[in-house]
Amino acid sequence: MRVVLLGPPGAGKGTQALKIAKEFDIPHISTGDIFRQNLRDNTELGKLAKEYMDKGLLVPDEVTNRIVEDRLEKEDCKKGFLLDGYPRNIPQAEELDKFLEERGHSLTAVINIQVEREALIDRITGRRVCPVCGATYHIKTSPPKVDNVCDKCGSELIQRSDDKLESVVKRLEVYEKETKPLIDYYTKKGILVNIDGNKSIDEVFEDIKKALLGDRRNDIH
Ligand code: AP5
Ligand code: MG
Ligand code: ZN
Repeated sequence: MRVVLLGPPGAGKGTQALKIAKEFDIPHISTGDIFRQNLRDNTELGKLAKEYMDKGLLVPDEVTNRIVEDRLEKEDCKKGFLLDGYPRNIPQAEELDKFLEERGHSLTAVINIQVEREALIDRITGRRVCPVCGATYHIKTSPPKVDNVCDKCGSELIQRSDDKLESVVKRLEVYEKETKPLIDYYTKKGILVNIDGNKSIDEVFEDIKKALLGDRRNDIH
């Protein structure tokens, strides 16, 4: 199963990706997480990515494409993969198609998580993440058991540096301009599935699971 998770910042891609990867036993590949890990490890890639991320801009395609392709060549991707946050514009989508085609593969489905703009801002500004194990929380909808402490590993939670309002507004703008056209791109290929992301985390997951298992192709709108 080769799946792409599409959706605006804060739609719940990362939250759902963890569940999908576990359920279908496929690796979860998040370009944002790869950049953030590099930043923590203080690599050149991390430093370069941070310059773009903090401004809410996309990291250049040449850099991002190479990282994804290196990752997709790894042994564990033979059984499939789940891409979260990639592709993010038409050139990246074309590059991914070409890469898969050259290997006799294609995407199984593109899951498009749809959430209203107002809710997105609430979700992002209320998000807290664990800098050690990567777990994601929300101060209102999914708070940790102890204030500001990760349930899974006990580390102190932080706010992502691109989650300040100014960066969020830019990220939403970049999404509208660069990423939204992918909805059309994949609809034309007949592999896009729209999922209503305004429901609870578990309900959204159930809908995605059904879509991936082929029970139904639910087109909201
Ligand atoms: P990336 O890390 O991909 O960020 P994003 O796309 O902006 O998406 P987010 O991670 O903010 O949101 P999400 O959809 O994962 O939501 P989450 O599950 O956390 O990219 C960051 C940056 O890296 C980019 O701006 C760019 O600079 C760079 N980059 C990455 N990929 C790139 C690429 N391909 N090309 C170039 N540059 C790239 O959920 C959000 C919150 O909501 C959480 O608090 C969660 O608990 C809560 N929540 C989730 N679901 C629900 C629900 N159903 N109900 C209530 N609350 C919910
Ligand atoms: Mg994410
Ligand atoms: Zn943790």
